[in-house]
Amino acid sequence: MKKVTVVKFGGSLTKNKDAQKKFIRELAGLSKKENIILVHGGGPEINMLLEKLSIESKFVNGLRYTDEKTLEVVEMALSGKVNKMLAAELIRNGVSAVGISAKDGSTAVCSVMKKLGFVGNPVKINKKLLEVLMKNGFLPVVSSVGIDKNANAVNVNADSLATAIAVAFKAEKLVFLTDVPGVLDLAKKTIKEIKIKNIDGLIKTNVITGGMIPKINGCKSAVLKGVKNVFIIDGASGIKKMKGTVIKK
Ligand SMILES: Nc1ncnc2c1ncn2[C@@H]1O[C@H](COP(=O)(O)OP(=O)(O)OP(=O)(O)O)[C@@H](O)[C@H]1O
Ligand SMILES: [Mg+2]
Repeated sequence: MKKVTVVKFGGSLTKNKDAQKKFIRELAGLSKKENIILVHGGGPEINMLLEKLSIESKFVNGLRYTDEKTLEVVEMALSGKVNKMLAAELIRNGVSAVGISAKDGSTAVCSVMKKLGFVGNPVKINKKLLEVLMKNGFLPVVSSVGIDKNANAVNVNADSLATAIAVAFKAEKLVFLTDVPGVLDLAKKTIKEIKIKNIDGLIKTNVITGGMIPKINGCKSAVLKGVKNVFIIDGASGIKKMKGTVIKK
């Protein structure tokens, strides 16, 4: 099989239609040369749908508290709306994309973090379904809904999911596209390269906060587990330019 690149498209970018269009076009080009697994989040779409349905969003240390009602909305927004939209856009650009969730084929089996409700951490990636798709020329688009050992759906942080998939596939490259030009310092300037030994310090000193924490921790774990090329990049300038931060051993 050709080398695998795992790309995580930040839900934060779904608001930026231009960035999205450009991303899809560039990814279509890239998919001719590499096997790509596209993982996505969808924070804003989840919030919008929760609001429409008058369900309150609750966060515990930056992570969404997910009760049963919220979980249903998470699935609708991620696996229903964002997933199908990204897959359809890729198809429009000539790519045989297939939208699945990480629940399908038990792709990401998760342990549940009780204090957050139905929120999971991937503990095992079953590669079979993704392999079958890629071997037959399909590009998998994966929403961040996993499955627990009792076959319940669980909400997974999309950064953690992308990381776990990249590690399982011994990916050549793991790229996070987000709504900022990489990791910024306190003066809001891009830090071009971060060594993994400096990551904990950047979190402790509050340089890295919020949604950047699971992302940078994902990068660290991916680098430690052998993924050689790990980047956090500006989704607006695209996956060709790769403007942002490289994370190195
Ligand atoms: N040092 C930092 N550099 C850059 N962004 C940072 C930093 N610290 C915190 N952030 C925040 O992290 C955000 C990116 O993470 P966020 O989870 O919001 O987006 P995403 O992961 O792309 O989308 P989603 O979670 O919906 O998939 C930035 O918009 C910024 O507000
Ligand atoms: Mg995020």
